[in-house]
Amino acid sequence: MSDDNAPAICPIPPRLVAAGAGSAEFRPLLDVADLSPGGMRRVSFGDLDLLVAATSSGIVVTDDRCPHMSAPLSLGTLDGCVVACVLHRGAFDLSTGETATFPTTGGLDADGMHHAPWAMAGAPPKPEPSESKANARALTRTRRLRFYPARIREGILEARVPEATHAVEA
Ligand code: FES
Repeated sequence: MSDDNAPAICPIPPRLVAAGAGSAEFRPLLDVADLSPGGMRRVSFGDLDLLVAATSSGIVVTDDRCPHMSAPLSLGTLDGCVVACVLHRGAFDLSTGETATFPTTGGLDADGMHHAPWAMAGAPPKPEPSESKANARALTRTRRLRFYPARIREGILEARVPEATHAVEA
């Protein structure tokens, strides 16, 4: 695929570049021909796991960790720009970094606002958690996603990844 026909890279929202990524070297992640529209892939650099997602706004590179409790977002589902986590029904907009649906466990959002736990309509009631577990949920903060600057060179998706040694595709 020539770079002229390559898919777009989604712009990174203001102030949401991952720590250390702004000045890091570009490193190869994958062949863009292997990423279908609406697809998601995990690419790991040592213990840093990245999510590559082909959203409706372009390709996004972010951490493959749910901003709630770190589950791999690559195992979730992508609908347009919104990825749904397999745990707690949280959903996150990959074009803005914002939470689209707050996790069922409730807790703090990125601005410190508290959200109450919730349940799917018709779901059987769950037993009340212990006080310490309820407190842990209430103080768990769901942050905004952080992103890695990306580009496509000769059909290869590259991203600025700090302190990387080599890429391992899962
Ligand atoms: S870990 Fe993803 S919603 Fe809780």
